[in-house]
Amino acid sequence: MSASTITICLNEPTGIIRPELHGQFAEHLGACIDGGLWVGEESRIPNLGGLRTDVLEALRKLRPPVLRWPGGCFADDYHWEDGIGPRRERPRRVNLWWGQGIEDNHFGTHEFIHLCRYLGAKPYLAGNVGSGTVREMRDWMEYCNYAGDSTLARRRGLNGSPLPFGVSYWGVGNENWGCGGNFCPEDYAAEYKRHATYLRDLSGANLFLIACGPDGNNADWTRRFFSKLGGFPRIYGYAAHYYCGTAGPSAIQFDTNQWYELLEKAGRMEQLLIEQRALLDTFDPQRKIGLIVDEWGVWHFPTPGRNAAHLWQQNALRDALVAAITLDAFNRHADKIVMANIAQIANVLQAMVLTEGDRMILTPTYHVFDMYQPHREGRGVRAEFTVPAIAFAVGEEKRQIAGLCGSASIKGKALTLTVVNPHATLPMDANVELRDGARVMELSGSLLTHDDLAAHNTFDAPDAISVQHLVLEPTLPWRHTFPPASITALRARLT
Ligand code: AHR
Repeated sequence: MSASTITICLNEPTGIIRPELHGQFAEHLGACIDGGLWVGEESRIPNLGGLRTDVLEALRKLRPPVLRWPGGCFADDYHWEDGIGPRRERPRRVNLWWGQGIEDNHFGTHEFIHLCRYLGAKPYLAGNVGSGTVREMRDWMEYCNYAGDSTLARRRGLNGSPLPFGVSYWGVGNENWGCGGNFCPEDYAAEYKRHATYLRDLSGANLFLIACGPDGNNADWTRRFFSKLGGFPRIYGYAAHYYCGTAGPSAIQFDTNQWYELLEKAGRMEQLLIEQRALLDTFDPQRKIGLIVDEWGVWHFPTPGRNAAHLWQQNALRDALVAAITLDAFNRHADKIVMANIAQIANVLQAMVLTEGDRMILTPTYHVFDMYQPHREGRGVRAEFTVPAIAFAVGEEKRQIAGLCGSASIKGKALTLTVVNPHATLPMDANVELRDGARVMELSGSLLTHDDLAAHNTFDAPDAISVQHLVLEPTLPWRHTFPPASITALRARLT
């Protein structure tokens, strides 16, 4: 065990940590919506108006601040009018991107808004630029948000919702460099302007228009998009996507080097945030545009025995560390990043919950989102980690990652410190120093770890990995031992 130092600089704020950094994403893909969130009113699986109650209850505890829908790639082939009106009359369409199965449109705009209301999440609608029209997106906005007596608002009322939905967040397309129309940045900028011109703040919905940003940390897309956009002001958020991918054959099969390799790739989110925010600053020196990462997470190889187009994957301790490393990076850039949405909320990629028939399990990633809740609305403060690095190899190449990493925030007198120990086998002993003289009066915490690096929950062993609550005594100096392969959330009441 080696000694390290974590210095928390209480007087060096990094920005208020918006709850929206813990946002979620649900797409018409595999069993995310059909089977995961939505079973329909006729189902034998207990449900509230078609939304399965076990999943609703589990997700409500996470208090998801915002939910993005209907895609993803699906969004640029989605026509919102398919998903309103009596369900039996809704058209059956082919889901082009995700296995070409039938989309019955039983889960549409009203069902999505009901879901958001049950969860307490703000809705975030991704509009169709790729195969839609400006008129279509502008009409969807009027249908959702207009409080007056227009034909579209009346139609919303006839469909059961006389009051407007007040949707603020609107994405102008998704991945428009790829499945959203294969645009070059200049052409997308022109499309963005054309759409945004007609997307207006109706009935005080506090419109927040979001442009499609780069695939990963692609500086060229950002430079060329903003150069072409010129001074066009109707843009509030700019959304990158970053999937850290995988290392090793699957979510639950990897060796120790592959364990580190994936964690190191997760850590590259920070580089994206640093470089993209610097680029944004050159075009938006007054920092009016918020940086968003509206898709992120791990993406493992297809799971044998499952439809590869449905992106179902297990979720293990390693994925939980990826989530923690990423959320900590967001906290460190809380002054610039305004929203992030992990992909996806159920049964797809790095999910919070997995379902099978009427059974549901919570994933290790779910537990991380739960453990990180105390950071929300806290003031991020700089935390300096002085720790030895961990060396590992990717083939012949030698690489390294930091021996401990994390973030800190303060709310009144309550300090939250989250720390990841990525070491596969060694605990890390650290002194935690509070710069600026504060002392710890009370201490509590929670821990997610396991002896097995590939630990995960299954329908037969749903609690194989779960959160442990820590009983702690404040000491001076404050020392803490972070177990190997762990995520720790410490809560301290300060003087
Ligand atoms: O989340 C799965 C897919 O990944 C989304 O549909 C797309 O936007 C991204 O490529």
